Amino acid sequence: MLDIKITKTTTPKAKPEPGKPLGFGKIFTDHMFIMNYTEGQGWHDPRIVPFQKLSLSPAAMVYHYGQEMFEGLKAYKGDNGEVYLFRPEKNAERAQKTNDRLCIPQIPVEDFVQACKAVVEVDKDWIPTDPGTSLYIRPFIIATDEFLGVAPSETYLFMIILAPSGAYYESGLDPVGIWIEDEYVRAVRGGMGFAKTGGNYAASLIGQVKAHNDAYSQVLWLDGVERKYIEEVGSMNIFFKIDGKVVTPMLNGSILPGVTRDSTIQLCKSWGYEVEERRISVDELLEAQHTGKLEEVFGTGTAAVISPVGKLRYVDDVMVINNGEIGELSQKLYDTMTGIQYGKLDDPFGWRVKVCD
Ligand code: COI
Repeated sequence: MLDIKITKTTTPKAKPEPGKPLGFGKIFTDHMFIMNYTEGQGWHDPRIVPFQKLSLSPAAMVYHYGQEMFEGLKAYKGDNGEVYLFRPEKNAERAQKTNDRLCIPQIPVEDFVQACKAVVEVDKDWIPTDPGTSLYIRPFIIATDEFLGVAPSETYLFMIILAPSGAYYESGLDPVGIWIEDEYVRAVRGGMGFAKTGGNYAASLIGQVKAHNDAYSQVLWLDGVERKYIEEVGSMNIFFKIDGKVVTPMLNGSILPGVTRDSTIQLCKSWGYEVEERRISVDELLEAQHTGKLEEVFGTGTAAVISPVGKLRYVDDVMVINNGEIGELSQKLYDTMTGIQYGKLDDPFGWRVKVCD
């Protein structure tokens, strides 16, 4: 259990006005959580302080070799004013796997969750309540040793910042167009693909630029060896409904184990769908499209929630999915997932965690 010291701001900022679009990750609240790590001492000095700039040496290791990790989860305000998180222990557990891979010292699951809850409670009045909005929570750790040698740092900062946000994609629930990247790859097995670390996202930028240049909003990555099997979108995991079955790439070490991915699988199974986690090739998708069996495609992610895909481009082929409209399953998943998250629906899986009233 952390003994968190709280220092509140004396100059609170104006909160965004209800009804005005928030965008995603552009506005930050009044406070942040911060905790130091020092070799030999462990994690120490957990505190909530006014949101502020950092002062770091330009030699801090994170700037040079990218030793850092992050997580993403959200706080939701129900109609009754109660504040909830969604399966935060899953983020804490995934953070431990990322930390292992990046040689970053572990944070106990209960401390990670306690820190998220504590900072959300301090800034609970920042949780937006317009439909589809929430408070995006971004925990992250950076290596801070002042040293240019390549080695794990001996000091770190763990921080949590909060961003009142709307939909990740400007199009909201309108289906997005996705570019299947055939030249660059994002990750390989044995690499860091399963970890939530900045390097994976840096590796994905070039594909995103190519996709945007052709008016597609996101990139679907293929496996790094054969460039044949579907992996993930980078900001979300991907699902296909083919001939009535729900199919998603299996977790093979180069794909992020998404919390929304896991929740989607559990919901679909509970509704009687056959769910296959397996390798799926781009050729199989093209074939399913030609035979009319590719019924729906959607992405899942904390930021994106459920994001229907209306168009998939691969080299010279463009697959239009479900006439470019949101499918029945995608809509049902969105309604159920958000219904549970905002406290509007029963929570049969025990996913909702109350923070405060
Ligand atoms: C999330 O969904 O929380 C993520 O971290 C993805 C990020 C690209 C916004």
